[in-house]
Amino acid sequence: MAKLNPQQQAAVKAIDHPLLVLAGAGSGKTRVITEKIAYLVKQGLPARHIAAVTFTNKAAREMKSRVSKLLDDTQIRGLRVSTFHSLGLDILRKEHKVLAYKAAITLFDEQDKQTLLKNLINHGAKDCDLDNLDNYARQIGQWKNAFVTPEQAQATATREQYAAAGIYNEYTRSLKAYNAVDFDDLILLPVLLFQQHPAVLEKWQNKIRYLLVDEYQDTNITQYQLVKLLYEKSKTYRVFSV
Ligand SMILES: Nc1ncnc2c1ncn2[C@@H]1O[C@H](COP(=O)(O)OP(=O)(O)OP(=O)(O)O)[C@@H](O)[C@H]1O
Ligand SMILES: [Mg+2]
Repeated sequence: MAKLNPQQQAAVKAIDHPLLVLAGAGSGKTRVITEKIAYLVKQGLPARHIAAVTFTNKAAREMKSRVSKLLDDTQIRGLRVSTFHSLGLDILRKEHKVLAYKAAITLFDEQDKQTLLKNLINHGAKDCDLDNLDNYARQIGQWKNAFVTPEQAQATATREQYAAAGIYNEYTRSLKAYNAVDFDDLILLPVLLFQQHPAVLEKWQNKIRYLLVDEYQDTNITQYQLVKLLYEKSKTYRVFSV
């Protein structure tokens, strides 16, 4: 395999402080992440303390397969390479009790979300109109991604948003009744969980001691918050300051 260039080598070996790698398309950024995972493991950090996140399942699979060429099966055990969303789902499934969900959380995709909204409208959701279904779905996503709760949405809604805020509230209650979460919840709920339960956050900070994010420029506000919470007071320094 081709050797890393000097900049890549420096990035791989910089492990005692946060690092942002900015480089052009196809210049070897993802390679830095995979090599860094291998380097960390070879430095003695158990793979179960390392998480690499990216945006698509395809990218996650690709990264996993690249890492498996650098390390053997034993070294790789417990390594987490996934999308933001599957990291979120994993956190929710493990912490369901704190969030007052039952164990087998169901994931609603966009189609399930639309179906649930349609049902709520057909059952008389206040001031709502089936023609505006897409708008409600989009608005709910926007609120969730801006950390706006249904109560806050109702308190601050403009005249145009009033119906959406009402159905957002009903939708949230219904999801909970189904023991379900939607895609936006996969990031939002872990962030809220970590903000409200410092002990749970600390547990995850201890678990994920090294977090690597590919395609960082694509993180939205909620994903950034999740990264920031996990990173803050990171134990990484303690692990490596020998
Ligand atoms: N130092 C190197 N020498 C030779 N080939 C390399 C080197 N670093 C990376 N490559 C190869 O270049 C290609 C692109 O690398 P990589 O996917 O890591 O780039 P990237 O910056 O993440 O790209 P993108 O912008 O598409 O995400 C891969 O085939 C990789 O194996
Ligand atoms: Mg890449």
